[in-house]
Amino acid sequence: MTALAFRERINVSVRLLAFCGSARKESFNRRLLAAAVTRARAAGALVTELDLRSDLLPIYDGDLESQQGLPAAALELKAQFASHDGFLIASPEYNGFFSPLLKNALDWVSRPAPNTPAAYAGKTAGLLAASPGALGGIRCLPHLRLLLSNLGVTVSPAQLALGHAGQAFARDGGLADANQQTALEKLVADLIRLTAAIKA
Ligand SMILES: Cc1cc2nc3c(=O)[nH]c(=O)nc-3n(C[C@H](O)[C@H](O)[C@H](O)COP(=O)(O)O)c2cc1C
Repeated sequence: MTALAFRERINVSVRLLAFCGSARKESFNRRLLAAAVTRARAAGALVTELDLRSDLLPIYDGDLESQQGLPAAALELKAQFASHDGFLIASPEYNGFFSPLLKNALDWVSRPAPNTPAAYAGKTAGLLAASPGALGGIRCLPHLRLLLSNLGVTVSPAQLALGHAGQAFARDGGLADANQQTALEKLVADLIRLTAAIKA
């Protein structure tokens, strides 16, 4: 059954928040995320694309938090997380880990704020990585999976690490290799099904 058919059968709309752990203008991860977002919308999900660069979050600082509370950008980010059912995340791999931009955003959102609904508990995530290297950034994904699990997110088992990313995209923004495009579509469909099932 397709993700769209499943979603319609259980009559649940799925809202996904999509964001990328790279600040680079020509980011491969941003392109991979865009390909996933296209598939998610085609499968019937409502997707909000979030640009972590525009949030101007300071590096997490406990003194700043205790003196001033969460910065406005962190509160806005937290509200965005809270108002979605699941997350589509693409991260670069830096020395085997996911990016500090992503870690900082996830850390700020994990901090408590008055009258803010749950940002992580009960949510889902689908994970992607892209790299010019052969392994596609796959080594960073278990770390990201663990962090999200610690926060109460159900991380979908499917993940995609796109190697040789400089040659991996087709003109239409999808993936040039048919098997990789199929894997991307399955990842997105699995995430929508999982999210709809948890929400229902
Ligand atoms: C500090 C640093 C460490 C990196 N470490 C890795 C790595 O461990 N594995 C890998 O595949 N690529 C590594 N790279 C290369 C990145 O995958 C590459 O810069 C990639 O284009 C970043 O993602 P983006 O295109 O989305 O910005 C590293 C790059 C930097 C700047």
